[in-house]
Formats: sequence, C-alpha cells, structure tokens
Amino acid sequence: MYSSIRAAVVGSINMDIILGMERVPDVGENVLGTTYGYSCGGKGANQATALAKLGAATKIIGKVANDANGQKLINNLAANAIDFSGVSTAGTQTGMAAIILDGDGRNRIVVYEGANAEIDPKEAAEFITDDLGLLLVQFETAEEVVTECVNRAIAKGITTVIDCGPAKQFSLEKMQGATIISPNESETVALTGVSPDSDEAILEASKILKERSKAKYIVLKLGARGCSIWDGNELRIMPTYPGKVVDTTAAGDCFTAAMALEYKRSGDIYAACDMGNKAGTIAVGRMGAAASMPSADELKIF
Ligand code: RIB
Repeated sequence: MYSSIRAAVVGSINMDIILGMERVPDVGENVLGTTYGYSCGGKGANQATALAKLGAATKIIGKVANDANGQKLINNLAANAIDFSGVSTAGTQTGMAAIILDGDGRNRIVVYEGANAEIDPKEAAEFITDDLGLLLVQFETAEEVVTECVNRAIAKGITTVIDCGPAKQFSLEKMQGATIISPNESETVALTGVSPDSDEAILEASKILKERSKAKYIVLKLGARGCSIWDGNELRIMPTYPGKVVDTTAAGDCFTAAMALEYKRSGDIYAACDMGNKAGTIAVGRMGAAASMPSADELKIF
C-alpha cells in the first residue's frame, strides 16, 4: 500500500534500557523491578522503523557513536530494511534512554543525547533530496537541525510532518508552512501554555500552534482520548480504539509515522489520523519502542 512512497526521517537514535515495576519509587526509596531489558529506540529510529514496517522506502539521517550500542542500533536499522547511509558516527557515546515503566504501562524517560546532539544541520539537510515524498522530524535533535531540514523540505514541496516530542519550547516561527504539526498533551503545554483537557482548550492550543507554525493541519495526540485535527476552519476529535496497555513508549512515534504515511497516500487527514490511532493502539499493547511498531498486514487485520 505504501511501497511507492520514499520517506526520510531526521532524528534521534537511542539504546533504550527499560525497567518495569509495579510502581515508581519515591525520592530515596528502592523498589523491586519486575522486568528488565534493552530495546532499540530513539524517536527518529522508532518513526523510521514504523515507516519501513508499513512498507515505505525509508532512509534515516542521524548520528551514533563508534561503540557497541551504535553498532547494534545500525544493525537493527538494517534488519528493518532502512537506508542508514545518512547515519554518521561521532566521537562521543551513542544516545541512551532510561525508561521506567509502571504497572499500568506508563513511562518516565530520561534521555542522554550523546551523538544525537552532534548532528550537523547543513550535512543533515543535504540528505533531503528531490526524490523524497515525505519527511518526518522530531525535537530530539538540535533546533537548527530540525529547522534546516524542514525548511529545505518545504522549499522542495515535500510533505513535511513535525512530531513535537520531547516536550520543549521551540521556535516554530523559524519553519513555517509544514504539512502537519503534531504534539502530544505535554508537548502542547510546552509550546502553547495551554493544557488540552477540554474541547475549548484543544481549540485554543491548536489556534496558537497554527498561528505560530502556519502548518496546514494541527494534530494533537491526546493519549487515551485519541487525537484532534484543526485545519483552520473545523475542529474534529477522533477517539482511539480500545486495547490492552502494556507499554506506552513510542506509541506517539507510531501514531505519527502511520498518520504521515496514510496522509501522503490518500491526502485525507481524517483517514490518516484513524490509521495513526490504529497503529498507536497496537503499539501500546506491546513492550519496547521500535520493536512495538506494527506491520502493514497487522494494521489491515486490526
Ligand atoms: O518516543 C519514545 C522514545 O523516546 C524512546 O525510544 C526513547 O529512546 C526516547 O527517545
């Protein structure tokens, strides 16, 4: 379904260490863990994996160090048929995320940026080539990397989707005219100062984001409530699907990738968000980041 789409992701590549526990410890407290493991992650790599598993010809632009984790992460990109010729190696450590997961599948994440912070904006932008149909970026690399790549993609007429994770203030005004901009709840608060906890607040936040970014669509990821779409005229809220919650890590990455791909295919933002909701529901039912992304067949059956 998506094999004719050539996509690129500019973003972070991390080794995730995941510790599961019934409840997270208070300050100064020790608790016993229930699970423990390593998983390939990073918002950029997760989104690239989702695109590739859904069938798009995908390349990733990023940086890892010349260390054991960097090698494992590159091997994982290769195993998912992702073109990693845009991944360079830097002198410091590969990015690392420590994820603690409570009994309800809710996470808390600490990211050590490492090599991700050393991506050169101009070098990254060189990989935004005319053959691309779709570009995805997130905020887990330097602001200049994101703006340089987004502006180059917009100038080339490439469908450009901005995932605003992790939550931070960002000069959206420096990259106006993207196709879709998509923060989750905490990212919306960081960017607008408005908590999207009612229809009125969702509209208010969406209007601020549209004014600042001049993006075509504002799509807020609202967790268990689904997502909202604001096109400047109509606000629509699309509930998500019921499902078991094992690990919410990377559910947003999965949503963004599936939504972006379906939008690129159909040009229908509502069908795209429905696809994002389905993909996100599958991802939260599984452990891990990149490993929890569904394939095109799994989405079809869902
Ligand atoms: O979005 C989830 C990701 O955030 C994890 O894989 C972790 O690496 C952090 O970047």
